[in-house]
Amino acid sequence: MSEIVEVHGREVLDSRGEPTVEVEVYLASGIMGRAIVPAGKTTGRREVKELRDGDPARFRGKGVLKAVENVNQVIAPELIGLDARDQRIVDRVLTGLDPSERREGLGGNAILGASLAVAHAAAESLGIGLFEYLGGKVARRLPVPLVNVINGGGHATNNLDIQEFMLVPTGPSLVPNGLRATCEVFDRLRGLLEAQGASTAYGDEGGFAPSLDCSELAIELLQEAVRKAGYEVHNHFRVALDVAGNHLFDRTSERYRLNIQPERGAPPARAELTTAELVRYYEGLLARFPAIASIEDPFHEDDWDGFAALTASVGSKVQIVGDDLFVSQTRYLSRGIKSRAANAILVKPNQVGTLSETLDTVAMAQRAGFGTVISHRSGDTEDTTIADLAVAVGAGQIKTGSVTRSERCAKYNRLLRIESHLVEPIYVAPYA
Ligand code: PGA
Ligand code: ZN
Repeated sequence: MSEIVEVHGREVLDSRGEPTVEVEVYLASGIMGRAIVPAGKTTGRREVKELRDGDPARFRGKGVLKAVENVNQVIAPELIGLDARDQRIVDRVLTGLDPSERREGLGGNAILGASLAVAHAAAESLGIGLFEYLGGKVARRLPVPLVNVINGGGHATNNLDIQEFMLVPTGPSLVPNGLRATCEVFDRLRGLLEAQGASTAYGDEGGFAPSLDCSELAIELLQEAVRKAGYEVHNHFRVALDVAGNHLFDRTSERYRLNIQPERGAPPARAELTTAELVRYYEGLLARFPAIASIEDPFHEDDWDGFAALTASVGSKVQIVGDDLFVSQTRYLSRGIKSRAANAILVKPNQVGTLSETLDTVAMAQRAGFGTVISHRSGDTEDTTIADLAVAVGAGQIKTGSVTRSERCAKYNRLLRIESHLVEPIYVAPYA
């Protein structure tokens, strides 16, 4: 009864008002599974490719009708007749249909949509949640959220260089109420911005996007909001950053360009830094803000040496996360494990292509003792697959934006539902 009888793709919208692929998979029993593929904006060069139509008459070329057609005309006939519970076989068929490294033929969006929709249908056919289908009865570790409260870089039109300033409710007394506490801090942050006359408009991931002259001021503001809400910086909340280093790197001068505050109270200054100088900048930032527990993509995606130097210097205390560096793929992660280029990985299913490949990446990371952060994309939807995935693999951390936009809240609310289903949920703070 879990035989796939129909696969149907369509074009729907993401949170930026841009088109994306939705896939529905129907089983012989009448059960249906559905998935919607998210879309990044500051994407890694090595990621699997989203197929976009390039027709300027529709969505300025961003339409996904070709990818949808690939679902309906190419993928559907190959999946019909397979058992939805054979995820590995399904994913092998999908990758076999497009063996190109970046899935340029069918489109990573077409392939991932089909792969995830099959998993949803299979879970549904067993009458269990996706987290339990993928992780078994033993899956019960809830991830700590990295909540993006200030947006900058390519996700906002302000002048902040760092893309994401996140709060991580790690304090033991905040378990299991970390999300509630984060909402309280977010509310205080709004008040602080209003008091400064700064904008409280949101960026792409729902965090505030004020114009602040340098990253240090944003971190100070964030820490002030924690205190104002009645919590302690470090004991209750740690800070996580996603620098999205590609964005800072100028390939002509081979320098990282960013505004820095040389010391507390000093006027911000424009800096052009070599890799070695940027390592020293981060060391200084960590000394000044010991609450920073995690830095993602501190360098651009080809600066393996920069990653390794920073990990060697601060990696015993701080999580260094590879996002665009690893693009969720085992071939790059294995290089990073060998060269100690990081100690954690961001996992985005649409960077790698299928559910099975995503699980392989997580397994490799966990075997190497790397931290794992399951992640949304800046263009996202009501799809909640990553919440289930985070619990299924016991990732420990999830990054899914702020608490103010429904496409992000959908994941948080899914986690709350999962939590209430679990007999004995466990929470392990990710950082020492
Ligand atoms: P993206 O950003 O979805 O625009 O790639 C998220 C990230 O860099 O982590
Ligand atoms: Zn990132």
